[in-house]
Amino acid sequence: MKVLVTGGAGYIGSTLVPILLEAGHSVVVVDRFYFGKETLGAASDKFGAKLTMVQADVRSLDESIMAGVDAVVDLAGISNDPSCELDPELTKSINLRGNQSTMQLAQRAGVKRYVYASSCSVYGRGETTGLTEKSNLHPVSLYARCKADCETALFALQGRGMCVTALRFATVFGLSPRMRFDLAVNVMTKNAYTQGKITVDGGGKQWRPFVHVADVGETIRDILGQPVESVDGQVFNVGHEANNVRVLNLAYRVRDALPTTQIVMAPTDPDLRDYNVEFDKLHELMPDRLFRTIDYGIQEVLGALKSGEIDPDDRRWYTMRHYVFLSEVERTYRQVALDGRVLA
Ligand SMILES: NC(=O)c1ccc[n+]([C@@H]2O[C@H](COP(=O)([O-])OP(=O)(O)OC[C@H]3O[C@@H](n4cnc5c(N)ncnc54)[C@H](O)[C@@H]3O)[C@@H](O)[C@H]2O)c1
Repeated sequence: MKVLVTGGAGYIGSTLVPILLEAGHSVVVVDRFYFGKETLGAASDKFGAKLTMVQADVRSLDESIMAGVDAVVDLAGISNDPSCELDPELTKSINLRGNQSTMQLAQRAGVKRYVYASSCSVYGRGETTGLTEKSNLHPVSLYARCKADCETALFALQGRGMCVTALRFATVFGLSPRMRFDLAVNVMTKNAYTQGKITVDGGGKQWRPFVHVADVGETIRDILGQPVESVDGQVFNVGHEANNVRVLNLAYRVRDALPTTQIVMAPTDPDLRDYNVEFDKLHELMPDRLFRTIDYGIQEVLGALKSGEIDPDDRRWYTMRHYVFLSEVERTYRQVALDGRVLA
């Protein structure tokens, strides 16, 4: 299969792309490469011409990009709540209109399968525990509202020749070539190691489901291999029941790995996001798949910090801080004319 992955150089993408290549697919990555191209360096060295990288923006793709493409995995976008709030109009142009135009482009070009990266954050403030794909959605952020709206837009295309599937990922953890230290398991592990301290925001009682980044990659690969009738028009929560934890409990687990860690409760308002999710639908589809535990991810990230494999001070691993930096650079360049005159 030829698979086009938008946002393929990001945290999930840079883990997914080698998994797809290993499975024998050829892959086209379309990305702005905000976090660099090097995240796909090892995959490019290993798989050569099977991997094509295209620097492009999902808001202005040309239909020719879809030539010969069998499946699209749509991961591109601003990927967390605070980064989305930096510039709501820009966020909507990418996470709403950009993603929706990619869906329409793919459908018009005759792409057979489309997998959209949604999020369990669409449940927002869950009414109950054990939320299923049929539960009501209560998105409490612009990020989550864009995800819910894009799901609706995707399913409006069902029955027009393209098999459409939305995957609601739990909060992801674990090592990836583009690291993210703005995700709960990763950041708590990093702070425990570098500062000896974990800060718990929002009261700590809020439920959150988690999933390892390699499990996300393998699930996407396996969804692409499912019969159309099993996945067309379907939403799947992606994660594992055992990885639903309260945030304070997550802090205790990190402290179990680094026992001298101090846990500090931040005096913040209760977190509006509180969701405990059921994953039975996915596990019924893929009964043999095992999912990595949170403790596995903590040890994995800790090992990489201890060995120096990842640099905790690299700005690119902090999504919002990096986007703020990029927008300041862009503003500076916009203010300077080509002849060097300062315009504003
Ligand atoms: N990581 C999680 O916990 C999680 C959970 C649920 C859903 N998701 C979703 O999965 C997807 C991937 O998340 P991630 O963690 O890999 O995020 P990421 O920020 O690491 O990756 C996003 C990628 O999209 C690219 N991108 C951004 N705007 C673009 C544009 N206009 N055109 C082309 N490329 C653009 C970036 O350069 C980056 O490589 C996102 O849609 C995210 O919302 C992630």
